[in-house]
Amino acid sequence: MLKTEILRVEDVEKDGEKIKKAAAILANGGLVVFPTETVYGLGANALDQNAVPNIFAAKGRPSDNPLIVHIAKLDTLYDLVLEVPRKALQLAEAFWPGALTIILKKKDIVPKVTSGGLDTVAVRMPSNAIAKQLILQAGVPVAAPSANLSGKPSPTLAKHCIEDLTGKVDAIIDGGECRYGVESTVISLAGETPVLLRPGAVTLEQMQQVIGKIQVHPGVIAYVDNGEKAISPGMKYRHYAPKAKVVIVDADLKQFVAFVNASKEEGVFALCFTEEANLLKKPFISYGKSDDQLAHAKKLFGALREFDERGAKIVYAHCPSEGGVGLAVYNRLLRAASFEVIKL
Ligand code: TXA
Ligand code: MG
Repeated sequence: MLKTEILRVEDVEKDGEKIKKAAAILANGGLVVFPTETVYGLGANALDQNAVPNIFAAKGRPSDNPLIVHIAKLDTLYDLVLEVPRKALQLAEAFWPGALTIILKKKDIVPKVTSGGLDTVAVRMPSNAIAKQLILQAGVPVAAPSANLSGKPSPTLAKHCIEDLTGKVDAIIDGGECRYGVESTVISLAGETPVLLRPGAVTLEQMQQVIGKIQVHPGVIAYVDNGEKAISPGMKYRHYAPKAKVVIVDADLKQFVAFVNASKEEGVFALCFTEEANLLKKPFISYGKSDDQLAHAKKLFGALREFDERGAKIVYAHCPSEGGVGLAVYNRLLRAASFEVIKL
């Protein structure tokens, strides 16, 4: 058991000493949980072969699932990858710092433990001010998966990380609620054609405007069999799963309300839109107005954790629309629901 220090940071300058302390922990091979604009990350020095395995141990994460390396300056990208293709640079210029992770062929300096044994590495420059300062001051690139126990919904508040990782990390920086609430968009530029592996707050449409054609990996909205060689290892694990059974309901507002109210099972809860809340006769959590995709993204993971706390047995989730950031929400919800969708 480690003694986990909780460092509450409200202001990067005012709380500069706390960030400095956390940065020193990283530089010395320790584990630090920190906020980003997407979700909280569980960080270690990405180039330290002895530190990185502790991330996998703390999360209970399979060792073949590679980590994202977080950087604070564009120069660092050139230290980590063999080559920066034109499209990668265009995406970095358009969306960094921000919620976009780019996969490229790695240099030997990136240890295999960090890349899950692959010859590619995922790199992201986060925009969150605390994350940026932390990485700068640590003076090393920071490998960080989402700061949840493997299989649990990603953490969007420090309290989620405190629940999952107290005693397993050296420090947790509490920087408030994450701006987006879903993990970064992941795109691979390691091959001929760009491939979207995970949708996020930087949308497919936005990236297409910058680099043109992007292939969408089938696993983004469909089940990829475990036996099939997933090109992004994270796709093959069951993810974001609360204890309750989640079922996505694809329906209009009226149909959804009628369906939930008519359900006879025990422990039914609804994940609904704001417009439906007053009409439901079952307990519910609303994740925003039906057309507010950013709200759905921000509230989804917290809601999944709350359903468990409230003892939900079945959660009927009103299907979000798939365009823009909605694709990211739909992608996460599909995994929480083990791909079970009822179409009315
Ligand atoms: O927003 C985020 O991306 C957060 C914050 C902390 O930055 N991090 C995060 O990391 O979500 P994680 O480990 O939970 O998800 C990383 C995903 C996994 O699905 C992993 O398999 C994939 O990216 N990935 C990482 N490196 C890869 C690589 N070299 N090739 C293919 N997929 C890779
Ligand atoms: Mg994760």
